[in-house]
Amino acid sequence: MKEIIILASGNGSNFESICKYFSKSKSIRVKQLITDNKDAFVIQRAKRLNIDYKIIDYKHFKNKSEYNLALFDHLKSIDFDLMVLAGYMRILPNYIVNHYKGKIVNIHPSLLPNYKGLNAIAKAYENKERYTGITIHYVDEGVDTGQIIFQKKVRIRKKDTLETLEKKIHKIEHKYYPKVIEKILSEK
Ligand code: GAR
Repeated sequence: MKEIIILASGNGSNFESICKYFSKSKSIRVKQLITDNKDAFVIQRAKRLNIDYKIIDYKHFKNKSEYNLALFDHLKSIDFDLMVLAGYMRILPNYIVNHYKGKIVNIHPSLLPNYKGLNAIAKAYENKERYTGITIHYVDEGVDTGQIIFQKKVRIRKKDTLETLEKKIHKIEHKYYPKVIEKILSEK
């Protein structure tokens, strides 16, 4: 059985779609949710879906370094095959990325290398792009720069509002992220 852990900071809709996709799988299971935010809605989802969760509350620590050390200590205490970032809104330090090289994936709501960083959907929309999309990539030491595994385009239509565009993006994230994770693990 391959085991994945998921890091998320907020809503957790991708977390939920991944958990549901693998809920009946005999070869892949979601071992644990890790969140840096004790108020994140994703925790309610984990409870409802009966997935183990660990809160490492960022606000509880003196600074970023102490938070990251606590995260690393926790990661070292569990075994997993793949670390999946799904709306994890912090940057992993280089020592964690290097320790788990090739074992961390992220999803980003743009066609990287366009619109790295925060508010990627809104930036593409405000820039009046004709297309945007999603990218699933390995995590390296940069921000949204790792090797691209999968991309899917989404057309921005004239009648789209930011809200309808966000909905379309999330829908394709939910559709493809679990399948891409499955493929990565089948090749490991
Ligand atoms: C997703 O759209 C994901 O692509 C994005 O955060 C959202 C989380 O939604 N991630 C980033 O912007 C990372 N830079 P969710 O909490 O409902 O899954």
